[in-house]
Amino acid sequence: MRPVIEMLGVDTVYEGEKNATLKGVDLRIWPGDLVCVLGPNGAGKTTLLETINGILPYKMGRVTVLDEDVCTRGPKVRRQVGYMLQEHTFPESTPYLVKDVIIMGRFGRIGLFRRPNETDWNAARRAAEYMEIFHLWDRPIGKLSGGQVQKVLLARTLAKEPRILLMDEPYSNLDYRATEEISSKICELHRTRNLTTLMVIHELNHIPPDCNRIVLLKDGKILGDAPPQKMLSSSLFRHAFSEG
Ligand SMILES: Nc1ncnc2c1ncn2[C@@H]1O[C@H](COP(=O)(O)OP(=O)(O)OP(=O)(O)O)[C@@H](O)[C@H]1O
Ligand SMILES: [Mg+2]
Repeated sequence: MRPVIEMLGVDTVYEGEKNATLKGVDLRIWPGDLVCVLGPNGAGKTTLLETINGILPYKMGRVTVLDEDVCTRGPKVRRQVGYMLQEHTFPESTPYLVKDVIIMGRFGRIGLFRRPNETDWNAARRAAEYMEIFHLWDRPIGKLSGGQVQKVLLARTLAKEPRILLMDEPYSNLDYRATEEISSKICELHRTRNLTTLMVIHELNHIPPDCNRIVLLKDGKILGDAPPQKMLSSSLFRHAFSEG
C-alpha cells in the first residue's frame, strides 16, 4: 500500500525567517486514515497542513501527495485536496450567496476563467444537500450563524469532490450541537467514501469516534503518533501541553 501523503525530513521556513517552523517532519498518512493533529498554539499545525497542500514551500526534505511532488506538481495536488481554512468568517455585507460560495469549490477543478456548467452546479447542489443546508442556498453568506457557515464551507470543500480532506480546526467557535452535526458528517464521509482525512483540533472532546491516529506536534516537531487511547494516556501528551 502506498501512503496518500508522505513527508520525509521536511523543514518549512517562512520567508524572512531565520529558523525553520517545521523541523525534520516525517509523516505518512495511509488510505482511509482519519488523523487528528493536536498541539499547543504556535506548534505548527496550520504550517503542517499548508506544507502538505503545497501552499508553503519547504526548504528541506520531500512532500508527496498521491505520489506527486507538491513542490513541482502543486496545482495538480490541490485539485484533489479539499482544504478547510482555520476560522474563516464573512463580514455581514459580503456580497455572496451560499450557492456562490459552494460553487467556488469547483474553481480548483475548472479554473477561474471557465464558467461552471451543469455538472459543476450538480456537484454543488449535491454537496449542499449532503450537508443539509440546501434551504440556505439563496441566502447571503454574511447573514448565517457560525455553525451554518461552517457547514457551507464543508459543502464547498465537498463540491470539489476531493480525495483528501485537510481541515484546520473545523469546530472553532461552534456550539455543542453544531460540533456534533459537523463531526457526524465528517465521520460519515470517512466511512462511506473512505475519504482520507487529516484534521487539526484543539480540544480532546472534538476527537471524532472514527479517528485512528493522533499526531502530536510541538515546536514544529512531531512528538508522537499513536492511536487515540494510547496517545491520550501517554506522558508525551501531558508534556506537549506543558510549558517549556
Ligand atoms: N506567515 C508567517 N511568517 C512567519 N512566521 C509565521 C507565519 N505564520 C505562522 N508563523 C509562525 O510559525 C509558527 C507556527 O504557526 P502555526 O500557525 O502553524 O501554528 P498553529 O499550531 O497552527 O497555531 P494555532 O493553534 O494558534 O492555530 C508560529 O511560531 C508562528 O508565529
Ligand atoms: Mg493554526
